[in-house]
Amino acid sequence: MIILGIETSCDETGVALCSDFKILSSFTKTQSIHQQYGGVVPEIASREHEKYLPSITKKVLEDANKSFKDIDAIAVTNGPGLMGSLLSGISFAKGISQALNIPIIPINHLEAHLNSVFIEHAELEAPFINLLVSGGHTQLWLVKNMFEYELLGETLDDACGEAFDKGAKKMNLNYPGGPEIEKIAKNGDMNLINFPRPMINDNTFNFSFSGLKTALINCVNDNKYSYEDIAASYQEAIVDTLISKFEKAMNQYSANSGIICGGVAANKRLRYKLDKLDQKIIYPSMKYCTDNADMIAFLALHKVNNNKIDFDKDFSAYSRGMIV
Ligand code: KG4
Ligand code: ZN
Repeated sequence: MIILGIETSCDETGVALCSDFKILSSFTKTQSIHQQYGGVVPEIASREHEKYLPSITKKVLEDANKSFKDIDAIAVTNGPGLMGSLLSGISFAKGISQALNIPIIPINHLEAHLNSVFIEHAELEAPFINLLVSGGHTQLWLVKNMFEYELLGETLDDACGEAFDKGAKKMNLNYPGGPEIEKIAKNGDMNLINFPRPMINDNTFNFSFSGLKTALINCVNDNKYSYEDIAASYQEAIVDTLISKFEKAMNQYSANSGIICGGVAANKRLRYKLDKLDQKIIYPSMKYCTDNADMIAFLALHKVNNNKIDFDKDFSAYSRGMIV
């Protein structure tokens, strides 16, 4: 069975072809147009998806030496995400489904992230802890099995990627802010400014980054420290907060391994400190950490294989919501 996957929940336009649990071809276009606005502009994101989906799909089919008639089903992210972006992908997918008279499978974006590790690590044994750290999410999941998950905790306000992005914006750095903060942090003193480690000592697995972001804004306004020192100390506070909850979850649930995904997983300081833990940590390739259609097509194939699909064409998008 060949499944065409479509991912358009935010500012990545992704298309992938998956067969026999292998990715035949895929392409992800990151919308660089948002850089000039310092963040994702939802309406522009939707228009960009609509503009590029046909040509990206054509390319993905050609790269795999396939044509539309080879596709058996189409899978599309229907939430959570930006409403307009999701609808662009869903409309495109429904069009293909109608034209080819093939089934369409709605996929939850978060569930796809949790299972994306199996694309490269089919042998992985549950239970494992997944730390999902992106511009939109900061969540700690216990994965008990494929299709069996428990959300242990999540951010109560900003996502940690958002804390990087907003912190960078305050220091007049480019978007996305995470890599920019990481870059200048190399020349700063991470121990100079004692930024708060929010909720680090409470007994939940939740996070909070908005107070930390306010502390950075106040620090920049004080004009006492260099941006390099602020960036290094701020990054350290975010990383410490993530590590502390992650380690606690690994121990409490006796997890076999820990998976880190989402754009913030690229952060080298985070990886350095994770590697210091006495735990088996798996870092999926970055193309599977960030938003991609490979994980959408891959999960859809598993769902079909396990009879977990109801082929109802009358679904729509949802901007918020958990795995259902
Ligand atoms: O998963 P992702 O590519 O996209 C969405 O959130 O949709 O994550 C993007 C986030 C941004 O907030 C970006 O600043 C952050 O990941 N990020 C990083 C690094 N690279 C990307 N944060 C810290 N350090 C990095 N090296
Ligand atoms: Zn995502």
